[in-house]
Amino acid sequence: MSQANVRVPAKINLCLGVGPVRDDGYHPLATVYQAVDLHDEVRATAREDGEITVAVHSELDVRVAGEIAFVPEDDDNLAIKAARLLRERTGVTAGVDLAIRKVIPVAGGMAGGSADAAAALVACNEAWGTGLSRAALETLAARLGSDVPFLLHGGNAIGGGRGETVSPVLARGSYHWVFAMAHEGLSTKAVFAEFDRLNAHRTVRSPEVPDALLAALRAGDAEALGDALSNDLTEAALSLRPELGDTLGIGLQAGALGAILSGSGPTALFLAASEQHSLDIAFALSSTAGCADVVQSRGPVTGARLT
Ligand code: C5P
Repeated sequence: MSQANVRVPAKINLCLGVGPVRDDGYHPLATVYQAVDLHDEVRATAREDGEITVAVHSELDVRVAGEIAFVPEDDDNLAIKAARLLRERTGVTAGVDLAIRKVIPVAGGMAGGSADAAAALVACNEAWGTGLSRAALETLAARLGSDVPFLLHGGNAIGGGRGETVSPVLARGSYHWVFAMAHEGLSTKAVFAEFDRLNAHRTVRSPEVPDALLAALRAGDAEALGDALSNDLTEAALSLRPELGDTLGIGLQAGALGAILSGSGPTALFLAASEQHSLDIAFALSSTAGCADVVQSRGPVTGARLT
């Protein structure tokens, strides 16, 4: 019985267009994902007795150490669901111990739980020797959650459907980001419910990826990308957490090229023109009451990979 280690990035949404709620309760999305240099690691150690367990830890990271109390270590954990789904699909009888080293914020709008599920698929596929192709893993990923297929893919990609269909986008350049993590997470489900409440008497149109954003990515133009960042969940997230508006304002005042919430929030993201510029923005945010932690990062990076 063998062991495999996988490194998996967080995601951000450069744009997040949200359409009217579907009959299944999900919302159609038109998004551009970018995988960023903030990684969780999942180690899978196969076991012969058929048990599947998960343990979550962080190393020397005070923010994450507090947050991991909110990560379930039972069957609600998405990494365990991923292992079970792969076992069902392949008929393997072995079990696995999953050890997750967390860095991606919990309930931060950066798909930390989905990232761990993507990593668990790749790690178990290796540790169990089940040999499923990347395409087969992507099919399983879509059943686990809307963001999971993109976290296998990585880079930049257009997301459609409820987020689970991933297609390539022409993009160049590497971008400097600053992430402001909040003291408390937000539930994705709650933010979408607030979106529905706020839009109950409005016409919500089918979402589209803005042309200006695609043009900025094609050109590798950070300034144009900053102007084109957008997120239809902003109003709903700010309705639940009004103080996030202050965080966004402080980053913009510090000269960020653009500022939006990451996915359903509450992590706020800021685009910088250079490493030095991102340091200035991070400094301005670090003394903000609403920020539990400020992190500089780069994107795009690759998706879940064996190390
Ligand atoms: O797909 P995932 O399980 O990550 O989604 C979490 C929750 O977010 C869903 O239960 C749903 O309430 C909401 N959601 C949505 N529309 C999407 C994606 C997620 O309403 N496209």
